Amino acid sequence: MLGVVGAGTMGAGIAQLGAAAGMRTLLHDPVPEALERGMAGARRGLAKWAEKGRLGENAGDLLEPVSSLDGLAPCDLVIEAAPERPDLKRDLFGALSLVCGDDVVLATNTSSIPVTSLAGAAARPENVVGMHFFNPPPLMPLLEVIRAEQSSDRVVELAQEVGRAMGKDVIVAADGPGFLVNRCGRPFSAEGLRLLQERAATHEQIDRVCRLGGGFRMGPFELMDLVGIDVGFEVARSFTELSFGEPRWRPSPIQARMVAAGRLGRKSGRGYYDYVEGSPYRRDDPEPSEPGGGDGTAVSILGDGPLADALRERARCAGFELRDGGPTELVVDAGTRPQPSPPGGAPLLVLCARTSLVGRGEQGAVGFHLLPPLGNARLVELTRLPVTQRFAAEAAEEFFAKLGLLAEWVEDAPGLVLGRIVCQLVNEAAFAIAEGVGSAEDVDTGVTLGLSHPRGPVAWSEAIGLDHVLAVLDGLWQERREERYRAAPLLRRAASLGRSLRE
Ligand SMILES: NC(=O)c1ccc[n+]([C@@H]2O[C@H](COP(=O)([O-])OP(=O)(O)OC[C@H]3O[C@@H](n4cnc5c(N)ncnc54)[C@H](O)[C@@H]3O)[C@@H](O)[C@H]2O)c1
Repeated sequence: MLGVVGAGTMGAGIAQLGAAAGMRTLLHDPVPEALERGMAGARRGLAKWAEKGRLGENAGDLLEPVSSLDGLAPCDLVIEAAPERPDLKRDLFGALSLVCGDDVVLATNTSSIPVTSLAGAAARPENVVGMHFFNPPPLMPLLEVIRAEQSSDRVVELAQEVGRAMGKDVIVAADGPGFLVNRCGRPFSAEGLRLLQERAATHEQIDRVCRLGGGFRMGPFELMDLVGIDVGFEVARSFTELSFGEPRWRPSPIQARMVAAGRLGRKSGRGYYDYVEGSPYRRDDPEPSEPGGGDGTAVSILGDGPLADALRERARCAGFELRDGGPTELVVDAGTRPQPSPPGGAPLLVLCARTSLVGRGEQGAVGFHLLPPLGNARLVELTRLPVTQRFAAEAAEEFFAKLGLLAEWVEDAPGLVLGRIVCQLVNEAAFAIAEGVGSAEDVDTGVTLGLSHPRGPVAWSEAIGLDHVLAVLDGLWQERREERYRAAPLLRRAASLGRSLRE
């Protein structure tokens, strides 16, 4: 028998899942109206599924409200979805141990409190586990099971079985800041904020680059507005507190300022964007033209690795003639190990990975960055220096337009915008895997299903190549000397052994 404590957004959804999985499910909330609302929501959800033929019509009969905690006495598993307050949750675990008996398995849906610290409040800490559902639980396909220091193998297995019976893809994570999914997703907003703070690009540009260049559904600033800037700020503070000051996880002064100004995102009508009823908060994205129009123009694309290969392929399809040597109209150095620029006066485009444009000392050139695979990429980032010749900038825009890519001009840095964000996502995943937070497979499952990223960080690393990822991180570290850009040792080891992060 399943018990669910707290009949709010999460609890009602979890109760719906329990009944749908055929478990007798008792739902408790100390606030009578909340219990009523939660029951009604869960019943409505079950009825909808029954209408679609996904369940029998009487699944709702398995659901029962209980007005006092004592009513949960017969439960074998209780999932707690009460407000996110450590003292309240610890009190609940102590009380549930008395009500249900020592053998009850107690699960918490907390998204940020260490499960280990809650387990200590139960009579049998080994029977406590985290079951982190995503909002809304009936629709989100993922369950993250969190193993506290004290959790026994039996309860971790039970939590996985229950999750699978509820139809979820289940991953297992060790306890720690953000567990696995929220930890591996942190760099998306953290690096976005860093870029904004440096004025590398505006928030609209950063979001557009993530959508059109990386295939993300939303950019970091749209996402922060949706989640609530105050919520994100609290999460960042808790990461810093729990890690005793890890530099990658530090909150941003921009978040603090936004919260102080009451600009909390969608819920307050204003965050990074303005939310006015009846008008969209941003313009629709432009569409690039179809690749084509190379008309046999001779270009030279230098470099090894997935990006250089993908660019050569795209240029060939667009009608350019690729040359290894001799005079060409344009030279594109797409290698992560910069090559000396060839003689001749052709405009030079250089990949900003291991160095920024200024760091490379190629004053007349145009910098660019984009990530393979190019299948879904619709945008390339470009950068220039005050001394960059106008004809070189125009040649860069024209070349990439013929490859079917829109151009976004941003400030100069290794990795420009998307490279910095994605390489930091890969870096965080490599730290997490090496620290035993979860397996490489679970990282990708968690990030794609829990955060709706277009691909997981391990899959990104395979598409981009570890040399490219390390080039960006090392470039940033060398030019900035900031701890947040130190590469995970696992990343370096895998790159030098020619292995994937999966091995
Ligand atoms: N909302 C999300 O996106 C989300 C996602 C993942 C995890 N979580 C976690 O799930 C938990 C619940 O979040 P929510 O969004 O459903 O909150 P909510 O505010 O919608 O619901 C909380 C419910 O708990 C009830 N409650 C208050 N005091 C209680 C007590 N002493 N015992 C039992 N119930 C009590 C409230 O009446 C309310 O109905 C939190 O720990 C939260 O961090 C939330």
